[in-house]
Amino acid sequence: MTEPFVLRPMEEADILEVAAIEDVSALPQRSLEARKKDLSSERNRGVVLESGGLVVGLGSLWLAPDEAHVTSLAVSKEMRRRGHGRRLVWALVALAEFSGSAAITLECRASNGPAQKLYRGLGFEGVGERRHYYIDGEDATILTRKLGGAGVGG
Ligand SMILES: CC(C)(COP(=O)(O)OP(=O)(O)OC[C@H]1O[C@@H](n2cnc3c(N)ncnc32)[C@H](O)[C@@H]1OP(=O)(O)O)[C@@H](O)C(=O)NCCC(=O)NCCS
Repeated sequence: MTEPFVLRPMEEADILEVAAIEDVSALPQRSLEARKKDLSSERNRGVVLESGGLVVGLGSLWLAPDEAHVTSLAVSKEMRRRGHGRRLVWALVALAEFSGSAAITLECRASNGPAQKLYRGLGFEGVGERRHYYIDGEDATILTRKLGGAGVGG
C-alpha cells in the first residue's frame, strides 16, 4: 500500500532531513543553530511534507511586517513532478494569508525554470530582479503574489 502524505508544521527534529533535501536541491545552507533560531521565532512559518516517516518536501516563510517572504521550498528529487511543490506553495500562501500578510514574495535564480513555472502558474508575477544576488554571481528574479491582508505590523 502507498504511504499517505501528511503536511505538518516543521519541527526541530526535522532539521537534518530538511537540510539534506535543501543540500541536494542546491539551496543555500544555514547552520543548525541558525535553523533552530528561525524555528523558534514567531515570525517563522515552516511546513514539511512527510510520507512513511520521511520528510519528502518542505517550505518556509518569514513574516516581515509588510509581506511574507518565502525562505525555502524543495521537494526530494525522487518525489518531484507529482504536484507536491504546488501543494507546498499553496500551504505557504495560506499561512501568509492567515497571518494577515499583504503579499508573498521570493527570490528565485533567473535560470530556475521549473520553480518559476511553478510560482507563475500559481499567480505569482515577476516584479524585478536583483543583480548578482547569489554567491556565484547569478541574478535573482523577484516573484510576488498579492494577498488580502494589510500587513502584519512591525
Ligand atoms: C521547484 C520544485 C519545488 C517543484 O517541485 P515539484 O513537486 O516537482 O513540482 P510540481 O510537481 O508541483 O509541479 C508543479 C508545476 O511546476 C512546473 N514544474 C515543476 N517542475 C518542472 C520541471 N522540471 N520542468 C518544467 N516545469 C516544471 C510545472 O508547471 C508543474 O505543473 P505540471 O506538472 O502540471 O506541468 C522542485 O523542482 C525542487 O525542489 N527544485 C529544487 C529546489 C528549488 O528550486 N526550489 C525553489 C527555489 S526558488
